Amino acid sequence: MVPPLLQVRGVTRRFAGLVAVNAIDLDVAEGELVSVIGPNGAGKSTLFNLISGLDRPNVGTVHFAGQDVTGLRPERLAALGLARTFQHGRVFGNLSVIDNVLVGAHVRLRCVRPAVPLLGPLIELGLAAWRPAAVRAEEQSLRADAEAILALFGDRLLPRRDQPAYSLSYANRRRLEIARALALHPRLLLMDEPTAGMNESETAEMQVLIGRLKASGQTLLLIEHKLEMVMRLSDRVLAMDDGQRIAEGLPGRVRNDPAVIEAYLGHHALGSAEPVA
Ligand SMILES: Nc1ncnc2c1ncn2[C@@H]1O[C@H](COP(=O)(O)OP(=O)(O)OP(=O)(O)O)[C@@H](O)[C@H]1O
Ligand SMILES: [Mg+2]
Repeated sequence: MVPPLLQVRGVTRRFAGLVAVNAIDLDVAEGELVSVIGPNGAGKSTLFNLISGLDRPNVGTVHFAGQDVTGLRPERLAALGLARTFQHGRVFGNLSVIDNVLVGAHVRLRCVRPAVPLLGPLIELGLAAWRPAAVRAEEQSLRADAEAILALFGDRLLPRRDQPAYSLSYANRRRLEIARALALHPRLLLMDEPTAGMNESETAEMQVLIGRLKASGQTLLLIEHKLEMVMRLSDRVLAMDDGQRIAEGLPGRVRNDPAVIEAYLGHHALGSAEPVA
């Protein structure tokens, strides 16, 4: 049997007296879209931080692409093909839209980044200044790829490719963050509330985009409050509350699970578009 692409076992993260993530298990197989839901403060973003190397679990393990990656730094995980976007996303405001996407492709550079220990960054600097033919060709192909990624967002980003990112609308900055993550050609993409702060039509557009990514074979782990979207897109859903797993399985079953309904009751009625923040 093929092991899942992501395998989380018993991860726990404590902050002083608070157990933000408590003995969580989670599998994501290649090509799957798994969503994590739960009321505010349930531990969803903390779980993402533990998976993506931004934070380390006190207990438990994370395996990705067949290796134990528990506690590995985010850049090491990125090199293995794990990308993420953030709940409060940031882009490089003074870089152009296309350069923001190219930043995401950095770990894919080969010619300009020779795998030489210690001296690697210096050689990269030299090659970037000298720009031999192979380096120029590599840059050209990454630029073409970055444009193809921008085109996934219709006319939202591509016509603005040379504008500084600070000039973009909020929704476009969130789209750009996703484009930057896609530039990694990730094996697994983690998205933390990609539609947060978006209106209904922007949310519908995002749902179409995520659906297309899934259809193209992209493996996705999603945190999302908008449950209609979760129901439509997900193969499986993990529901958390107070750091714990309260339900897991097919979307319809999780939504109707009494523990999930109870967890949400104090926060917002299940099925409404947005939780009360
Ligand atoms: N660095 C930290 N230090 C202390 N407490 C933290 C830290 N990060 C998160 N927490 C706490 O851990 C709990 C879980 O937070 P987390 O951000 O993971 O929730 P969430 O499920 O993503 O919520 P939301 O839906 O509001 O984004 C919260 O009580 C939060 O205050
Ligand atoms: Mg969060």
